[in-house]
Order: sequence, then C-alpha cells, then structure tokens
Amino acid sequence: MPDSPHVVGVAGSLRDTSYTRLSVSRALDGVRRAGGTAELLDLREYDLPTYDADRSAAGDADAFTARIREADAVVLGTPMYHGSYSSTLKTALDYCGFDEFEDETVGLLAVAGGGFPVTALEHLRSVCRALNAWVIPHQVALPNASDQFENGEFVDDGLERRTLVLGRRAVQYADIEPDPDSFESDQNVGAE
Ligand SMILES: Cc1cc2nc3c(=O)[nH]c(=O)nc-3n(C[C@H](O)[C@H](O)[C@H](O)COP(=O)(O)O)c2cc1C
Repeated sequence: MPDSPHVVGVAGSLRDTSYTRLSVSRALDGVRRAGGTAELLDLREYDLPTYDADRSAAGDADAFTARIREADAVVLGTPMYHGSYSSTLKTALDYCGFDEFEDETVGLLAVAGGGFPVTALEHLRSVCRALNAWVIPHQVALPNASDQFENGEFVDDGLERRTLVLGRRAVQYADIEPDPDSFESDQNVGAE
C-alpha cells in the first residue's frame, strides 16, 4: 500500500446544495481518518461537454482525467435519476477509459430523493467492471436524502458510519492485487 493513498471523490450532481456532494465529502473524511489524502473533484469546476468521441479532449477533459489517473482510489457518488445514475457522472466517466480505471480501486455511493438507490449502484458497478476497476464490496445507499441532513451534517449515525467506512475501505484496498480482467472489458473497445 502507498504510505498515504490518495483518494479522489467525484459527485455526479451539479446542484449547489447537492446531498451527493455532501456525502462524497464525508466519505473523503473517512479517507483522511484512515491515513489517506483526499480531494473532491467538483464537477461544477470542470467544463465537460456532453461526450463526443470526435472531441475526446474537449473542455477540461484532460485536466479531469489526469486527476483520476493520479489517484490511488476513487469514490464515485451519484444522485438517483430515473432509476439510474446521473448524466453528469456518465459524461465524466465517458471521458475516462482503461488508463484511468484499469485496476483502480473504486467506492460507490448513491443518493435518492425516494427509496434506496440500489439500481444506480448496480449500474455504476457494471460500468466499473467494463473498465476493469476493482469495486469495493461495501457501498453506500442514502435514501430520502432531504431527511438525512441538517445544516450539512448527517442526522443518522448509522448512515454516516457507512459513509465514513467507504472512505476507510478506499484507503485499505487502494493497492489490492488486481483481479483478472472481466469479460465485459474485453468488449469495451471504446475504453482503449
Ligand atoms: C431528473 C431527476 C430524476 C430523479 N429520479 C429519481 C428516482 O428515480 N428515484 C428517486 O428516488 N429520486 C429521484 N430523483 C430525486 C433525486 O435523487 C434527489 O433529489 C437527490 O437528492 C438528488 O441528488 P443531489 O441532492 O446530490 O442533487 C430525481 C431527481 C431528478 C432531478
């Protein structure tokens, strides 16, 4: 394991008061508590137009992908949109490929206005498999988001603990031995 694994967080909501961003930030607190260094990549600060394969370096894409490549682990957070993860996160991920995610340790977190955002987590896990990332078994599902926070703080100790543990696991497994490539990745001709 690197002495002090560096973990970056990405939150797939551009909303100013995003619960997803709050939650990813809390997971990054868990990273720091576990001895890692952490940084939130705030997608409001990156110009990432809808992905066009003819313009794969559009806007701030190169700056964004460089930060992902430099990380020892990544925490991806998404709001639940229409039963899946957000287009904001999808766009950010489409600028990435094997260079960013192959053998990368990834933690997943999803936030829903309604019930548990499990499908968003499953869909993100599939994307990570197609990129040969190593996805942490523990994942965080935050339901009924508007009830879970007060003044930017978690109100439920159990959910906060789950979120902090995600950050700790990112540090713990940052340098885990890679698994064999997935069959999905063999078909992912866009990620080269
Ligand atoms: C376009 C859109 C689709 C949504 N779809 C769902 C959904 O399918 N299930 C759900 O529980 N909440 C849904 N929501 C509510 C969001 O998950 C909820 O507002 C969440 O807090 C947004 O994350 P944020 O606070 O990080 O922006 C949707 C919200 C939007 C804007």
